[in-house]
Order: sequence, then structure tokens, then C-alpha cells
Amino acid sequence: MTILSNGHQWKYTEFSDNKNYSFDKKKILSSLSEKEIDDAYSTISKWEGYAPTPLISLNKLSKELNLNKVFYKDESKRFDLKSFKALGGAYAVEKVTKGNKDIIVATATAGNHGRSVAWGARRLGIKCIIFISEFVSDARGQAMADLGADVIKVKGNYEKSLIECIKQSTENNWQIVQDVAWKDYMQVPTYTMAGYTVMMKEIIDQINNEKITHIILQAGVGGMAGAMVAGIARYLDYVPVTLVVEPDSAACVLESIKTGKIEKINIKRESLMGGMSCGEVSLVPWKILKSSVKHCISLPDDDIANTMKLLGNSSFSDEKIIAGENSAPGVISLIASCEDQNIKEKLKLDIKSKVLLIGCEGDTDKEMYKKLINQ
Ligand SMILES: Cc1ncc(COP(=O)(O)O)c(C=O)c1O
Repeated sequence: MTILSNGHQWKYTEFSDNKNYSFDKKKILSSLSEKEIDDAYSTISKWEGYAPTPLISLNKLSKELNLNKVFYKDESKRFDLKSFKALGGAYAVEKVTKGNKDIIVATATAGNHGRSVAWGARRLGIKCIIFISEFVSDARGQAMADLGADVIKVKGNYEKSLIECIKQSTENNWQIVQDVAWKDYMQVPTYTMAGYTVMMKEIIDQINNEKITHIILQAGVGGMAGAMVAGIARYLDYVPVTLVVEPDSAACVLESIKTGKIEKINIKRESLMGGMSCGEVSLVPWKILKSSVKHCISLPDDDIANTMKLLGNSSFSDEKIIAGENSAPGVISLIASCEDQNIKEKLKLDIKSKVLLIGCEGDTDKEMYKKLINQ
């Protein structure tokens, strides 16, 4: 089966000389503690409608690539919100409001985080204001309005929407619930990451003592990747080979690992992988990722649509999987790594490998999904 297009311009970078690398579990869990991780699971698992999302075997893909197993965590089934982000923002809303219904929460978002905050606010009967950039589709904006949020569109990119959110929230005394950390704003983003670690707890319960050898993590600001690494530190007594994948137009984790400090990317072209199109790694995940990542992949949008189609028509698994734009790069990275014999050997991807991929979203933008899989 030829999967990737001819001349696919992906890039693998190995940082075998990453001086910060230690995978020191204690250090990792000092940024996102065991207690924070356990609290998140015990709270979220009691929410109405909670159920672990499926861990699907991509059995046809593992056969094709000569691997033992490929697990795909299918977040398209996460509550009704269709992405792992449902675990983070909504949990942070609960933590910061502590039962006070008079608090108004606000956030800036590319879509999925805001939907989670809006949903979390509605669950608790709290008012919610969402700031989106002009690049966020109307369908995504509408989804948040349908959850009862006031949605404000801001001219410019995500950063502009965040600046406006901070400005208006300061003026009006709204509580910002952001998934990105900055100096003096660390606790709330840490709650969102604690929420994401629920995925890892479920995966551990679902794999029945099988040993994951590799894990591929999509990164935008790095919240999900950092949370999953913290989940590894919390739940596993071994460390899988960990790869971080980003759009080539916004590879902020890669650039930061390269220099050992946070580097800001000037995004010249917004990627189709919208949730991952971020110019700067967030502070809390950075503390975790800088000492735990040695392998980075950056890739263009080229094969996103085709990969979504192949997941959707059961080419990789027995069942059809609805996978959004941000779910595809994990699958593409694995295929690309296996197609390059040198890299395959370097990463020790072989018949014994059990690879974990994160299907971080479903058709969170239905119109876009239809358009892409019908291309
Ligand atoms: C579906 C999806 N996947 C991945 C990401 C990237 O997550 P993070 O910004 O925490 O790295 C996002 C961010 O919005 C997302 O919505």
C-alpha cells in the first residue's frame, strides 16, 4: 500500500546530544504532581457521561509496517466534544470556580480548548466569554455559542485573541481559563494538563500490561505532550521512545529543544493542523519536555487529508475511525519513520514494537472534515 505522497517533505531530527535530557521522573512530577494527576482522574471519572475513550488496534497498519501493534487512542468519542481538550478546560473551570457561580470565565482559543471551557461552564451554570481569532472557522465559533458562551471574534491571529482576552478580563474581573502558561500564570494551565493525563490512566487500564515501546505525541503549545510524559512518569515503570510531532510551519518544541531554551516561531502560514499551529511552547510543558524529548518530527499539510480518509474508510483498522486534522500527523509520522530504513532502525521500530498514537480529535469541525475527506 502506498500511503504517503511522493516527495513528502517530512523531517526527523534526533537530539541525541540534548544536554537537558534526563527523564528524571521526580523532576517531571515536580511540574505536574502525582496528586494533581490523581485528583484530576478522581474528579473527571465521576462526571456525568464519563466513559474511557476507545483504544483501537490499527491492526492493518501494524501488519503493513511490520510492527507488533499500533494502538490508537480515539478521542473523537470524548464526551460530546470530540477531542481530548474536553478533559482540560472543563476541569480547570471546575477547579478555579470552586462552586462559586458568580465567577465569569474567559478564554482565547483555536477551537477545542474553548469548547471545553464553554462546556465546563455550562455544566456548572457559569457565564463564559470566548475570544477567537479571525482564522477560527464559523463552525467552531458556532459550536461554542451553542454551548451558551458569548463568542467574540478578534482581528488577527491567536496571539491577538489572547491579548484581547487578557485585556477585557482584567478590565471586567473575569477569571481567565487558559491552556497556555506564562510567568505568573501557571496554575490554571497545570490543571488543564492534569485533565489531559486521564487519557494516560485509561490507556494503562486498556493495554492489559502490554509494554508500549514508542509513543508519538502531537504538539501545539505542548500541553498534551507534556501531560502524556507526566502520565508516563506517573503510571509506567519504564520509558517508551517518545517522539513529538509538529507542523513544519510551527515547530516550536523542536526549535526550543534545539537550543535548550524557549524559542518563538514567526508563523508565516497557518497549518491545516489548526490546534497545533502555535508559535511558542508553554512554560509548564516546556519544563517537562526539555528533559524528556530526543526525537522530533515536523511535517507539512500534504498528507493530512488522505490520512484522515484512510482512517475513515478502515484501511488501517477493522473499524472506521473519524479522525480530525490534528489526529493525522501521528499516523503520518509513524508511516514516514517506517518507510525510511535508517530512521526505522535508529528508532528500533521492528516486529516487537508496540506503538501508541493519540487520535486527539474527531470531526470537531464537521464542514472541514467533509471537505478534506472528499478531496
Ligand atoms: C485536537 C488537538 N490536538 C492537539 C492539540 C495541541 O495540543 P497542545 O496545544 O496542548 O500541545 C490541540 C490544541 O488545541 C488540539 O485541539
